[in-house]
Amino acid sequence: MNKSANKLIIVRQLVKIYPLPDGELKVLDGLDLEVERGDLVAIMGASGVGKTTLLNIIGTIDRPTSGEVFFENEALFSKDPRELARIRNKKIGFVFQFFHLLPEFTVIENLSLPLLIAGWPRQKALSKAWELLKEVGLEKKARVYPSLLSGGEQQRVAIARALVTEPSLLLADEPTGNLDWGTGEKIMELLSYFHEKKGLTSLVVTHNEKVARFCHRVFRLEDGRLKPILDRSSLF
Ligand SMILES: Nc1ncnc2c1ncn2[C@@H]1O[C@H](COP(=O)(O)OP(=O)(O)OP(=O)(O)O)[C@@H](O)[C@H]1O
Ligand SMILES: [Mg+2]
Repeated sequence: MNKSANKLIIVRQLVKIYPLPDGELKVLDGLDLEVERGDLVAIMGASGVGKTTLLNIIGTIDRPTSGEVFFENEALFSKDPRELARIRNKKIGFVFQFFHLLPEFTVIENLSLPLLIAGWPRQKALSKAWELLKEVGLEKKARVYPSLLSGGEQQRVAIARALVTEPSLLLADEPTGNLDWGTGEKIMELLSYFHEKKGLTSLVVTHNEKVARFCHRVFRLEDGRLKPILDRSSLF
């Protein structure tokens, strides 16, 4: 069997340079990463080292200066923007620190929207949205507006929305960064549930070592590259 068959993502020699008024900033410098299907990977590192930059490139929101990302064995950055958008919408879910739910829509409408945009008929979209809402335990909040939810509830809705289209990859940038740890722990338990039940693959950026404990592998981004944290006991 092809050795790379089980790899969802292969990142090769990624370089990202931002031009600055007085020179340039090399954020990623020959970064390599391989992620298998089902993996739950934490990326840690100091503020400003390039964690969000890396997530945005893997999520096809941004392009590298050089290097390549293979997603399901396809080279992403030789594709045209329309094809990239198609892959992004179908296969990648995003979760952010500040939830980013649409305030003028109810919870169930927020969950249905990605499916309606993908062309699902209304009834089918609604029933799929309900299925996810039940999985995150918020059926009672279906017709509530996001501003009336707690932070943890908003993040559970955001996770349900990210997963409603059944993407193969979830990219989460500080998903518990705005929550107390008791609430953040529930978010990580929910992510673990989606890994066990649905074979989800996730990259989670975090400053919190307690979040990293939930992950199968932990890396520190430093000097533009990922270094594995092999001694997991330092996180406990
Ligand atoms: N569009 C841009 N143009 C110029 N510099 C940028 C741009 N985007 C990010 N940077 C710079 O690149 C570096 C890495 O930014 P990034 O947001 O990836 O860091 P981070 O590791 O996510 O930090 P944090 O933990 O604070 O979120 C920072 O110095 C940032 O100022
Ligand atoms: Mg960031």
